[in-house]
Amino acid sequence: MKAVDIIINKRDKHQLSREEIEFFVDGYTRGEIPDYQASAWAMAVTLNGMSEQETTDLTMAMAHSGEVLNLDGVVPLAVDKHSTGGVGDKTTLVVEPTVAACGLPVGKMSGRGLGFSGGTLDKMESISGFRTNLSTEEFIEQLRTEGLVLTGQTADLAPADGKFYALRDVTGTVPSTPLIASSIMSKKIAGGAQAIVLDVKVGLGAFMATLEEGTELARLMAAIARLSGRKAVCLLSDMNQPLGHAVGNALEVREAIDTLHLRGPRDFYEHCMEVASQMLLLGEKAGSLDEARYLAESALKDGRAWKKFRRLVDVQGGDVSQVDDPSLLPGAPFVEVINSPMYGWLKAIDAREVGEASVDLGAGRVRKDDTIDPGVGIIIHRKVGDRVGIGDPLFTIHANSKDKLAQAKDRLLAAHLWSDQPCPRLPLFYDVIG
Ligand code: URA
Repeated sequence: MKAVDIIINKRDKHQLSREEIEFFVDGYTRGEIPDYQASAWAMAVTLNGMSEQETTDLTMAMAHSGEVLNLDGVVPLAVDKHSTGGVGDKTTLVVEPTVAACGLPVGKMSGRGLGFSGGTLDKMESISGFRTNLSTEEFIEQLRTEGLVLTGQTADLAPADGKFYALRDVTGTVPSTPLIASSIMSKKIAGGAQAIVLDVKVGLGAFMATLEEGTELARLMAAIARLSGRKAVCLLSDMNQPLGHAVGNALEVREAIDTLHLRGPRDFYEHCMEVASQMLLLGEKAGSLDEARYLAESALKDGRAWKKFRRLVDVQGGDVSQVDDPSLLPGAPFVEVINSPMYGWLKAIDAREVGEASVDLGAGRVRKDDTIDPGVGIIIHRKVGDRVGIGDPLFTIHANSKDKLAQAKDRLLAAHLWSDQPCPRLPLFYDVIG
């Protein structure tokens, strides 16, 4: 078999066989196929697409390019969740302790933020000492004993995806539905997941800008799950405005803690309860979505979910005094409440602009090796559909310099769009697939 023949086949719109896909992924991972051939192949896939079977074969080849965790005997059924990323998305911090408190063990390998989209590891690392670099052995042991783990990906998890992703980033081949679907699913499968709740975000602050694109990705990931013998449910959720109120690492941890104490924003609470319910249903802890919802809400109401979160912080070396008293989490020296200059209804709050503004404040990275400031960020006080009077608090900026605060203020004011007529609220979810 020759790499060039596989490129030609895809260029000429033929279906690739499993053997061809495995040969290509294996050769590229081991450095035998050079970047220029992998680039040509990725572009051919981007332009000509892949069938469900080809995408599943690609997923499995990438999953098996490194270690594949076998969680049989560790948990009865390995359930995981994945969000395609957005602004203010701290769902994992609430959902994982909630489902674990309901008796469904969850071990999650999360990522860091890149660009305008935040990352769970960065958020958790705003708690002093919290370790996100557990070894595979530590991951399995903690999953067995605590039923809850939240860490980064081990180095040997789907290494082919790491290599392909870096190449796609610089060759214009990121926006390909089969390449995105296989990239996400390969990491979940390599992490041992047998059942996965996929939260596909759509809108201005998401990877998938339109509902059509999001639906296509969700359908393809559901097909990969089916063809590879896993269970999956895909939620299509809104990411036109930030989720909840807080954007920025320590601020989001605080909001998650508030939510675990039933004091969080309504939209974020609702979002978390839906994701948790789907996980409990998929994980066979409940016979219906209503029952699952009851279990999830009960775990929050009687404090079990909060206790699980606190225990997670403790066992992974985090400073529990900071989560018991979130005012001890990192803060910012300059905090300013910006009041509304307008009277009217909020028509839009551009989530991408809010995400970019938080990156400029220092909450995110532009390059992978940039350091972040855990204390900075933004609190959005009003949401789309709200009526706001002149002088009402609109948002609060937490900054580490006056200049950055001033820049963020202008950008955030421009991200708010107004109407003199009542505007509909945005839905939390558009659809459920799978
Ligand atoms: N997230 C991933 O993990 N991979 C992609 O290709 C895109 C988003």
